[in-house]
Amino acid sequence: MKPACIFDLDGVIVDTAKYHYLAWKRLANSLGFDFTEHDNEQLKGVSRIESLNLILRLGGKELDAAEFDAALVRKNGWYLEYIQQIGPEEILPGAAEFLSSARAQGMKVALGSASKNAVLILERIQLLDQFDAIVDGNKVSKAKPDPEVFLKAAEELAVPASACIVFEDAVAGVQAARNAGMKVVGIGSAAVLDQAHFVLPNFAGLSIVDVLARFA
Ligand code: G6P
Ligand code: MG
Repeated sequence: MKPACIFDLDGVIVDTAKYHYLAWKRLANSLGFDFTEHDNEQLKGVSRIESLNLILRLGGKELDAAEFDAALVRKNGWYLEYIQQIGPEEILPGAAEFLSSARAQGMKVALGSASKNAVLILERIQLLDQFDAIVDGNKVSKAKPDPEVFLKAAEELAVPASACIVFEDAVAGVQAARNAGMKVVGIGSAAVLDQAHFVLPNFAGLSIVDVLARFA
């Protein structure tokens, strides 16, 4: 069985972390505390609800259920404002070429992202037509490290989990891929993503053939 690729979105294909950061910081400031870029590292791959829980813990602030929901809506509104501006120039180095190289090998390609804004982002960066299946935050109920998002992607591609290679920049995402019984390539720092089969700093200059060779 030909292997298939499953890509995380934020931090793997596109650099949206800075916009999530700006929107969370704006929210934290509106609630009377600050939120640093350093703390933002902990939010990578973390769902919207869990992110707010974490930020409130960091700020020592409690919200009732209605305020909590209103805060989520406000943050997402600001985030959407920021990402309306993005285009293909925000695609991370080599990512578009890497995707094409997988398709050129006749491999199936899926998205496996926690984001509920994934389709909008793929439209804006003009990569929506590169995916055979899209599993995003609207289709899953369990956050990474639960394997649900990747198992659903494999199911939509009709490929067994053992034949999938996941590309992930977040610790929770690497664990989710492992929990799904998939191969996983970390994108970022090898020190941080030590549970990945191997780690690449980014996709620049690489094609799927290089990755397949590492697994051969
Ligand atoms: C990705 C990002 C997280 C973000 C999550 C939900 O996993 O890495 O930072 O919180 O998606 O994104 P959303 O666009 O639905 O708020
Ligand atoms: Mg990510």
